[in-house]
Amino acid sequence: MTYLHRQDGQLHLEAQPLGQVAEQFGTPAFVYSKAAISAAYQRLEGAFKGQPHWICYAVKANSNLAVLALLARLGAGFDLVSGGELRRVLLAGGDPGKVVFSGVGKEPWEIKAALEAGIACFNMESPSELVLINRIAGEMGVVAPVSVRVNPDVDASTHPYIATGLKESKFGIAWSDALSIYEQAASLPSVKVVGIGCHIGSQITQPAPYLAALSRLLTLVAELEQRGLSLSYIDIGGGMAVRYKDEQPFALDAFADQVKGAMSGRKERLILEPGRSLVAEAGLLLTRVNTLKQNEGHHFAVVDAAMNDLLRPALYQAWQEVAPVMERPGAPTLYDLVGPVCESGDFLAKGRPLTLAEGDLLAILSTGAYGLVMSSNYNTRCRAPEILVDGASCHLIRRRETLEDLLALEALPP
Ligand code: LLP
Repeated sequence: MTYLHRQDGQLHLEAQPLGQVAEQFGTPAFVYSKAAISAAYQRLEGAFKGQPHWICYAVKANSNLAVLALLARLGAGFDLVSGGELRRVLLAGGDPGKVVFSGVGKEPWEIKAALEAGIACFNMESPSELVLINRIAGEMGVVAPVSVRVNPDVDASTHPYIATGLKESKFGIAWSDALSIYEQAASLPSVKVVGIGCHIGSQITQPAPYLAALSRLLTLVAELEQRGLSLSYIDIGGGMAVRYKDEQPFALDAFADQVKGAMSGRKERLILEPGRSLVAEAGLLLTRVNTLKQNEGHHFAVVDAAMNDLLRPALYQAWQEVAPVMERPGAPTLYDLVGPVCESGDFLAKGRPLTLAEGDLLAILSTGAYGLVMSSNYNTRCRAPEILVDGASCHLIRRRETLEDLLALEALPP
């Protein structure tokens, strides 16, 4: 993780001692570094310098308004998958003219809201969606910009739950149907085809699948050109890996140079939709050890965060690094870090060598992406707060939920 360091034995995020953050806001709590998000964005922006492009941040990775506002100020566009995310982007001051709207199941109200906002394009994923967008745009008296998300049938070699570019995946338009959907779109009065795109998966550690997908997209672009159709956008999706354990994310500059090479001489704007790579390593989940217990020689540290706060380990057997906020002397024990939720799958880490006492604070690292956004109220647990660290100051950017918040949504029958 970047912007994380140990000073006087205590873990700090930027200049903020994490013990103090826990004191002030309680635990569990998600804590993000503003400098780390900005640096990740600037790094990507710098790598693609010289190539007309937009970095459309995938809002699903971390949709806190403060995070979106920060990225909007840095010049980011946004990749959405719902009308809810559109609302967030607009509230955060994002430019709708740099928004792309992905997703296989867009609802009429979401399409209408996106047309009213004036987004750059819909990443269209089925013939029915094309018909729906055409109908709604017609009713509104506007022309909807659409881009076709094709499925390039490229193996991104990642976890099966987060690979999306294989032909058996639900995403995108099958390669073999792509040309006919462009023809269908050209025959509809209220849509204008402006682009082509793909998203082959997430946590991709090699540049090769991207380059293979881009080259497939470019063959289609050439065929479309022959038929007199020119496009404005070529979108290669998101999915760039971060280092959770021993993954080796690829070198950004070399990758960008290869993409620029493939795009050279082309007039279309390149679009990237990174989520994880901009925010994962900027965030951690702060949690306190409630109970240490042993069952048949197996050591458990029961912490106050659980699978409802951080689902990745339970859902994907994802490995997240665990670091004590204050290091303790003494020989480590192998602990499973588990939460209070009533599920055997409720774990945050397994078999980690740690020296612990009850009451200790731990940081679960690289949880800035797909952390709070995937949390739930399972077991009637209140969602954790989010805190943005900025140098030596920190801001509460989402307060902790209360039981009153949760119960206010429900009603007893008369
Ligand atoms: N664009 C589209 C169309 C996507 O579906 C996604 C992610 C992204 C961009 C951003 O991908 P990223 O750069 O963040 O890898 N919950 C899982 C990840 C699911 C990703 C879904 N789509 C996890 O925690 O690993």
